[in-house]
Amino acid sequence: MAGDLPNGNPFLPVLCTVMLWAHIRRGMQSKSTVLITGASSGIGLALAKAFLQEGYQVVANSRRITSAGTLTASPSLALIDGDVAEPATAAKLVDTAVRQFGGLDVLVNNAGIFVPKAFDEYSSSDFRRVLDTNVTGFFYVTQHAVRQMKKQGGGQVVTISTTLAGQPVAGVNAALTSLTKGGLNAVTKGLALEYAASGIRFNAIAPGIVDTPMHRAEDHESLKDLHPIRRLGTVEEIAAAALFLVKAPFITGEVLHVDGGAHAGKW
Ligand SMILES: NC(=O)c1ccc[n+]([C@@H]2O[C@H](COP(=O)([O-])OP(=O)(O)OC[C@H]3O[C@@H](n4cnc5c(N)ncnc54)[C@H](OP(=O)(O)O)[C@@H]3O)[C@@H](O)[C@H]2O)c1
Repeated sequence: MAGDLPNGNPFLPVLCTVMLWAHIRRGMQSKSTVLITGASSGIGLALAKAFLQEGYQVVANSRRITSAGTLTASPSLALIDGDVAEPATAAKLVDTAVRQFGGLDVLVNNAGIFVPKAFDEYSSSDFRRVLDTNVTGFFYVTQHAVRQMKKQGGGQVVTISTTLAGQPVAGVNAALTSLTKGGLNAVTKGLALEYAASGIRFNAIAPGIVDTPMHRAEDHESLKDLHPIRRLGTVEEIAAAALFLVKAPFITGEVLHVDGGAHAGKW
């Protein structure tokens, strides 16, 4: 018959279709999934774009990511509103990765706020706000992610801290940054040991001053002087560091400084 294939087996087209579908499904399942917090702006937005570009499936979060207008949901990108300080947000983010993309391979803890003030001028609401976002957010989201990664037999966590935590600068008063981000650097090392045998790697990136909406344009000139390489970092440079860590299977417990040399000493 005209419709038959050369060998005449009438089941061959059906078999081919089934095999093709199985191949597509396997391909879909083998894609890795990353969850990025604070992804509507600045570094988080660049991270989301970079991971999408690398072929990842991305769950992107911020409190108002669906209305921010910086990312558009797609079959590879889920946008989830929510405050990372709420345990319910953490559960929803990891559930979305599992339900929509089949699992969670990488978590990037990026959501964070910066409230520079003299130590004795911080209000208790400043204290609560910075602690909630920078520490509580890390705690719940990471806990949920690790539970899922343990089920999957591995994964990795990259946390965005700051070079200021290890190298304070006279005149840049940011004790709540040191307090919270210093804790993130410390816990990154502790968790790297705790979960090494479970195949989960923990690393941090400690940026210098990066050109994001966190800093007013009129301050950029003076902020350049905070690095031996006298310029601000770019969001793409932080995203490149995250991709490097994700692709470096023998690195765990590392705090990678992307700060134009600021951590190296005096200049
Ligand atoms: N820019 C720098 O110079 C610099 C230097 C060192 C470290 N860092 C760190 O890099 C990270 C990103 O900073 P950035 O400069 O890109 O800041 P950014 O442009 O202000 O972006 C912050 C992001 O976090 C989200 N966010 C804030 N609070 C949140 C919460 N409670 N729950 C969920 N999302 C929240 C914001 O969106 P919504 O308002 O919609 O929630 C936004 O998407 C922070 O952890 C920061 O500490 C920045």
